[in-house]
Amino acid sequence: MKLKVFVTRTFPGNGINLLKKYFTVKVYPQNRVIPRKELVQGVKWGDALLCLLTDKIDKEVIDVNPRLKIIANLAVGFDNVDVRYAAQKKILVTNTPGVLDDAVAEHTCALLFALARRIPESDQFTKQKKYKGWEPFLLLGTQLKGKTIGIVGLGRIGSGVAKRCHDGMGMNVLYTDLKPNTDFEKEFSAKYCSLLRLLKQSDFVSLHVPLLPSTRHLIGKKQFAIMKKTAYLINTSRGPVVDEKALVKALQQKQIAGAGLDVFEFEPDLTPGLEKLSTVILTPHTASATIEARSAMGNLAVQNIIAVLFGKKPLTPIVIR
Ligand code: GLV
Repeated sequence: MKLKVFVTRTFPGNGINLLKKYFTVKVYPQNRVIPRKELVQGVKWGDALLCLLTDKIDKEVIDVNPRLKIIANLAVGFDNVDVRYAAQKKILVTNTPGVLDDAVAEHTCALLFALARRIPESDQFTKQKKYKGWEPFLLLGTQLKGKTIGIVGLGRIGSGVAKRCHDGMGMNVLYTDLKPNTDFEKEFSAKYCSLLRLLKQSDFVSLHVPLLPSTRHLIGKKQFAIMKKTAYLINTSRGPVVDEKALVKALQQKQIAGAGLDVFEFEPDLTPGLEKLSTVILTPHTASATIEARSAMGNLAVQNIIAVLFGKKPLTPIVIR
């Protein structure tokens, strides 16, 4: 009898067809977040689960099927899965690192440019026919060349952003992480420093850390007070890394100049006030939303399932420390 794979939502690329070659596959048929009841039923039915970052795979879900062999999360982040509990139950958990770095780094730069040159405001202004002729002070922005970007978390995505900012825009790079990376420093004339110094000195602060107990509200009231009044915050990591209420306050009080957010603390909801600020640019968790990245993420999740159900090691297991 064929092994069974449950997929919580369809996704771009050929991954689902590939799964169907080897296994019996059930895909939740509606293009929306799967309700809890259907998720539990699907997990109970399958030998493998392919899920999304919007699916909460907690103890209760894991417990419904002790036969489950793999949870393949179609995301690089995995804070939606109780990885420790899955490990206790001998269920492998995989994510999709390495295939979305370019997409997310590009999106981060898109937010950087859009903030610096006030692109959404300029677009609205022009479409609303407010443009009456060239003006010396009209929609003045800030130049990126010579400015400092502070990278918080120098993983694949953080270093991809740093490389683009340094090589492409001529920006200075500061970074902070658990430990320094001297090769990286040489290549991009980057400087390792504490978060405190990074916040004090950066013109743009870009977050690239996973969501962990130690990174929840890493940036809040105290940190906004340290940042330059002219600085911008960009978050393409996970919403709860930023205390969003404190961010709204900091922006309303002009403690910082603006923010570009792709992720939200209470996703998909916004903290009240955020949507009213012209100094904020919001995108709906689309940093990895290129056809290339999303297809590659799907394929990697599928390859992980194929490997595990054929008794091999997964390509990208999540290793808990
Ligand atoms: C997207 O946020 C991801 O973690 O892949």
